[in-house]
Order: sequence, then C-alpha cells, then structure tokens
Amino acid sequence: MKILVVGSGGREHAIGWALARDARVARLYFAPGNAGTAALGENVPLQVTDLAGLRAWCERQRPDLVVVGPEAPLCAGLVDELSAAGVPAFGPGQAGARLEASKIFTKDLLAKAGVPTAASARFTEVAAARAYCAAQRYPLVVKADGLAAGKGVIIAPTLADADAALEQIMARKIFGAAGDHVLIEEFLPGQEASIHAVTDGADYVLLPSAQDHKRIRDDDEGPNTGGMGAYAPAPIVSAALLATIERTVIQPVITALRDAGIDYRGVLYAGLMLTPDGPKVLEFNCRFGDPETEVLLPLLETPLLDLLLATVERRLGKLRFELKQGSALTVVLAAPGYPEHPVTGQVIHGLNGASPLLFHAGTARREDGRVTVSGGRVLAATGVGHDLHEARRRAYRMAADIRFEGKQYRLDIGRKALDLLEKNQPRTAPNKHECG
Ligand code: AMP
Ligand code: GLY
Repeated sequence: MKILVVGSGGREHAIGWALARDARVARLYFAPGNAGTAALGENVPLQVTDLAGLRAWCERQRPDLVVVGPEAPLCAGLVDELSAAGVPAFGPGQAGARLEASKIFTKDLLAKAGVPTAASARFTEVAAARAYCAAQRYPLVVKADGLAAGKGVIIAPTLADADAALEQIMARKIFGAAGDHVLIEEFLPGQEASIHAVTDGADYVLLPSAQDHKRIRDDDEGPNTGGMGAYAPAPIVSAALLATIERTVIQPVITALRDAGIDYRGVLYAGLMLTPDGPKVLEFNCRFGDPETEVLLPLLETPLLDLLLATVERRLGKLRFELKQGSALTVVLAAPGYPEHPVTGQVIHGLNGASPLLFHAGTARREDGRVTVSGGRVLAATGVGHDLHEARRRAYRMAADIRFEGKQYRLDIGRKALDLLEKNQPRTAPNKHECG
C-alpha cells in the first residue's frame, strides 16, 4: 500500500513509525514531514493547508490512504476534498471538524447531548461581555470561539485580567476572526486527562487514557505550550472512571454527531477536567493529540493500519482491537525561547543510533546533511516499559543523550502519576523521582 501522512510534527512521525513497521505498507509519504519522517519515506514539499496542492498530488499519485494529522487541514475540509477525488482519507470532514474549529458549536452539541461541561455564556459585543464578567466569581476562563493554535484560552484570576483578555481577543483581535465570538466559562478545578476514541460514526474503540503537560516549566508553571510531555495510561483514570467517561461523554457525543447528520470518521479526542463532581469536557479535538500520539501508538497491539482502514471503511465494529500491557512516556525537547520566540538553526547531536521512538517534530536536514532545530518543539523522546517507572527511565535517558544549544525540557513528566501510584501501592525502593 501507498500512504500519505499530512503533517510535520511528532504525531506524524509516530504515525509514520507505526505504519512503516507494517509489511503491507510499501511506500510512505509525508507532507511536508521533517528530518525524522524522511528516514521512513519521502517528504513531499506541500504545506498542510495547501488543499489544492494536496488534492492534485493525490490525484496524480493515487495513495491507498491519506492520514491527516493536524486540525488546520481537517477544519479547512481536506478530507472532503480528497473524498470528492475518490481518495480514502482518515479524519472527519469539515462539518465534523467543527467540534474543534468552534467552541460554541461544541457547547451546543454537548448541551443537546446532556454531556457535562463548564457552565458558560457567549458574546459578540465587548460591552456585554464586560458586564457579564463583572458579576462572576473568579478565576474565570475566557475563550476565543475559533482556532487559535492552542492559545485562545485565557484563565483570568481577577476581573481586571478578564477585561484585559476581552480587550485582546475582541477589540484588538489578537486571534483574528477566531475572536469574533467569545465564550466565558466557569473555572473547573481538578486534573486533566486526554481520552481518545476512534470512531467510524457508529462504533468506536478507546485508546489508553493519557495526560499531557501543557506548561513550559516543571510544576505546571510558565506559559502554555503545545505540550511538553505525556504518558499513558494515566493512573488517575481508573477503569470505573473510564467507563463513566465512555457512558457520559464519548457515547452521547457520537450519537449527537450522527443525529446532527454528520458523518464523523476519525479521532474524537476529549480534553477532560476530572472535577470532584465527575469528568467534564474542556474541549474536543478532531485529531490525535500531540504529544499524546507518541505514547498511544506504541501501546497498540492491533496494527495502526487496521484501525485506520476499519474506520475509513466503516467496519470498526468488526475489528479485533487490542492494546499492549505496559506504559509509555514521552518528554518533549524544545528549542530555547519556546513557546514565545523559539530560536532555531542549532545542530542536533546524538541522533546517530537513536531509538526509533525518538520522534522528530521541529527538525530539518541541512544541505550538509546535519539535522538542525527548525521549530519550537524539536523532538519527543519516548520510552515504553512494563510500567511507568521503566517507560520514564527510558524516555529520560534518551532525552539526556540528545544535545543542542539551549535544549529545554521538563524534568517532572509523569511525576503526578508516579506519586499517585506510590500512594496507592507504595514501593520498597525510594526512587520515585529518579529520572536518569
Ligand atoms: P482548551 O484549549 O479549551 O483545552 O483549554 C486549554 C487549557 O486551558 C486546558 O487544557 C485547561 O488547562 C485550561 N482550561 C480550559 N477551560 C478551562 C476551565 N473551564 N476551567 C479550568 N481550566 C480550563
Ligand atoms: N496535547 C494537546 C493537543 O494535541 O491539543
């Protein structure tokens, strides 16, 4: 088979890694890919939002499957384009991708389906939004309705902060048209979890629970990022809690999408807050998470290709879907200055002989053959083990072996989970914080 993976991050490298291991996959292409994906197949110099270019390439090359990684092309309708050209593609069409493209669309769908989520109000006028904020309890959460590259959510500790957020989003339009509508939400306390379901619109399978680490620095300090590390499964999501999430979130959302006449085939990624009152939806994404994918795919026993094809061909109900025992953990190595102003161009050392689970994100190969830093998130060092301790040791060993100027990474990926495991089942050896 011939497969095109659209995207250039650690997620797409991980998808490529899982597909490249499959004997049925003869040729892999990435658009535009990175230095890591170039070792698995061929990088095609097309940007993910170049819908016409991608369609034309597919019409010429006739891939057996296209896997769309990021949200931007899904929300722009790439899967509809490809379907119209008779090319099978994994991911929802534009109508389904509204689940990620519009927070207001999602709130309405959740309300209709009776899915628990934060109470909220929506505004198009700054004066009305201000008046509403003046009467709320704090902290409060201000969200731009549309896509804002993961930055459209501002947690406001005080009314002054909420006012400043409204000024930026609604008046100064720092997120452009994404800020034409804002959502103001109650703040939900608790830990977050990522739950990925893969659905063909009727049936679904659940991937392991995961936890992302969004802030740049240890102890969840500093600005939000695209994600600095993740692990799976997340011990905080017990089997009972996962069953609750399935029943109160995943199943009703799949039904609501179908009732709305939407043919949703792809990933349903629920960002949840595990509050004292139960799991509540923070957001939905219409794609695999990044860096969650880097820890989820190594835990699949069923070949990824079978999962993707069964989804596209609407036969998930017949798929024998199995997960591996054990855990996976990934540590993101970021460029200096990330997330605000990443500095790029440095040569990366230590790549020779690195594990295939060292997933590339912002990397590029220079003309002289050296691999250099080309984006904010550079590499995702991923360890798999029989438990979280082992996975973490392997990931951190890999992270330490890679060198580039200004490399930054968190040292506490997975610590909350290990603390929880320690509390539930104390180990004899006092090494819970080691990471070497
Ligand atoms: P979102 O893009 O909606 O997932 O929001 C980004 C991050 O903001 C989430 O991962 C949470 O950490 C935080 N967040 C969003 N909504 C809320 C909320 N209602 N209460 C508390 N934190 C929130
Ligand atoms: N891990 C966060 C995201 O993929 O949106």
